[in-house]
Amino acid sequence: MEIIKGIAELRSRIQQAKEDGKDIGLVPTMGYLHEGHLSLVRAAVRDNDIVVVSIFVNPTQFGPNEDYDSYPRDLEHDAAKLRELGVDYVFAPGVQEMYPEGYNSFVEVRDLTDKLCGKSRPGHFRGVTTVVTKLLNIVQPHRAYFGQKDFQQLVVIRRMVTDLNIPVEIKGLPIVREEDGLAMSSRNKYLNSKERKAATVLFKALEKGKEMILEGERDADKVREEMAGLINQEPLARIDYVAVVDPEGLQDLKKIGDRVLLALAVFIGNTRLIDNCFIEV
Ligand code: PAJ
Repeated sequence: MEIIKGIAELRSRIQQAKEDGKDIGLVPTMGYLHEGHLSLVRAAVRDNDIVVVSIFVNPTQFGPNEDYDSYPRDLEHDAAKLRELGVDYVFAPGVQEMYPEGYNSFVEVRDLTDKLCGKSRPGHFRGVTTVVTKLLNIVQPHRAYFGQKDFQQLVVIRRMVTDLNIPVEIKGLPIVREEDGLAMSSRNKYLNSKERKAATVLFKALEKGKEMILEGERDADKVREEMAGLINQEPLARIDYVAVVDPEGLQDLKKIGDRVLLALAVFIGNTRLIDNCFIEV
């Protein structure tokens, strides 16, 4: 496994692999890898001849008051895990390599990005779509892997790849959770032990919502209210949003149909956590 920091160097390696007829898989990450990330990497290693994992804490997707500076980083530890899984290249560019002096281009997906996390994180998805476009252009993989943990991100990226005719197959993989249901996230590191316990309220609320729907509840407001009520019982939790939406367009639902996404963002102390549950009835 090689750790590569330069775009030109990575491209020459990939070009060679393509000339040799190899299939390329890309797993974009911001590092500080956990089992959620590693599930994507395992799938990529299984499906492709050559796997590139990018590790880049992308400054353009963080708002001015967000955690870009404090976002956890540990390249050495990440590289050791990736080596074990049989990854070929870790692409770990510096900020200057991705956004050199004079950089001035952004990719924007409309509508889908105004909803859910887009409301409280203006500009976030513009940063994501821009960096993912750059990574897809740099690597030109056959397949790229994303987690359903960031369901909205996956929907936005699928829209972008379709709209812009980017020749890649997007794979969306299930959420990996801790034993008590908390979705794995690099940001879980911010939680102290009390907060870590309180954080299980996200999963509990999703389970409650899911149960109501599977038992026949079709009034989205009732499900929303029940989930919010449960979260509000936890003193360390503060709701950013609790949403019952259609999983394609991400619009709020009134009446629940065959396919529904329960999505939430909740502050536990100062840490904003997201989670979701896709239900097909
Ligand atoms: P990051 O938060 O590091 O996540 C990288 C990928 O891992 C994303 O596709 C995310 O959905 C997936 N992932 C994270 N936690 C997961 C879990 N518990 N189960 C399954 N998959 C999980 O998402 C980003 O980075 C960035 O926005 C990025 C796409 C790299 C662009 O900068």
